[in-house]
Amino acid sequence: MTPGERAALADLPLRDDLRGRTPYGAPQLAVPYQLNTNENPYPPPPELVADITAAVAEIAGTLHRYPDRDAVGLRTDLAAYLAESTGVPLTTANLWAANGSNEILQQILQAFGGPGRSALGFEPSYSMHPIIAAGTRTDWVPTPRRADFSLDVDAAVAVLAERSPDVVFVTSPNNPTGQSIPLSDLRALVAATSGIVVVDEAYAEFSPQESAVHLIEDFPTQVIVSRTMSKAFAFAGGRLGYLAAAPAVVDALLLVRLPYHLSALTQAAARAALRHADQTLASVHKLAAERDRVIEALSGFGATVVPSDANFVLFGQFADAAAAWQSYLDKGVLIRDVGIPEYLRVTVGTPAENDAFLAASKEIV
Ligand SMILES: Cc1ncc(COP(=O)(O)O)c(C=O)c1O
Repeated sequence: MTPGERAALADLPLRDDLRGRTPYGAPQLAVPYQLNTNENPYPPPPELVADITAAVAEIAGTLHRYPDRDAVGLRTDLAAYLAESTGVPLTTANLWAANGSNEILQQILQAFGGPGRSALGFEPSYSMHPIIAAGTRTDWVPTPRRADFSLDVDAAVAVLAERSPDVVFVTSPNNPTGQSIPLSDLRALVAATSGIVVVDEAYAEFSPQESAVHLIEDFPTQVIVSRTMSKAFAFAGGRLGYLAAAPAVVDALLLVRLPYHLSALTQAAARAALRHADQTLASVHKLAAERDRVIEALSGFGATVVPSDANFVLFGQFADAAAAWQSYLDKGVLIRDVGIPEYLRVTVGTPAENDAFLAASKEIV
């Protein structure tokens, strides 16, 4: 028996509002085909591995000192990347970075949500938005999408006017459904609220839609664009998320971030990864082409497939999605049951991984 084992969660003086909740828990299983957490299937190229190794070796000799608390070098590199890829002249002052975009989202709710405040999201969407709201004691206002999972912008505008949330989450492309939102629709949503609008662009590199960073200039007190290096950048293990917003937003987050939250190792590794962005991001085109192949094949098998601008595909319809998920797993293919009745989500992998998934689908769909 391990020390303390006789105490159960129910025995702890846990906050009442956290009792009975379930933690985030995508299974991490050692199976041949891991297509359940929307990672990039291509490992870092050898040049990037060498560059990270050298950068970390250099930093290792300085680990007795705290890292740059404000991660200025990294934020400057992120600004350069985002300015170049979007055409918006963002600078270091517009950027903020943290350990994954989950931490970015948490800092946003620590600063702009909290007790007595509310956050609204269009569901189904990223499951961590309500979990982070719960952790920060922000009231969660779930608002449904259409039956086909698209966003009804007129209905959304009306809900925003009626509910006046302090924070609105708009995920584009949306996880787990895949559709992105045109900039003109986003503009209408932002104009319909006085709250903060967090546009979660975790999968933006896969989408043809323009980034919401174009709205920062017109709505500096409202628009925050959240990004991550976990997906297109193939850096999920490095844990680096970031945001672009007006400089005042970054000032607000300095009030809630923990000092030295971003380790010197993370900062150095992320800067090395950014130096190889062209190489890493070359996988985006390959993955988009594979996504379209997967969509076409699934449709050919008679599946209902939701259009996707991301590196994953939501498909159905299964009489019993949980049983279908298990059938995939029995064939060594781990996909995701996101809790939407009749649907499952698959991450686009390498051509060989997608072939394995499609071979299984032929029998299961
Ligand atoms: C929409 C969305 N936002 C944010 C994240 C968090 O990513 P990370 O914390 O790895 O940056 C994810 C991860 O799956 C996601 O799907």
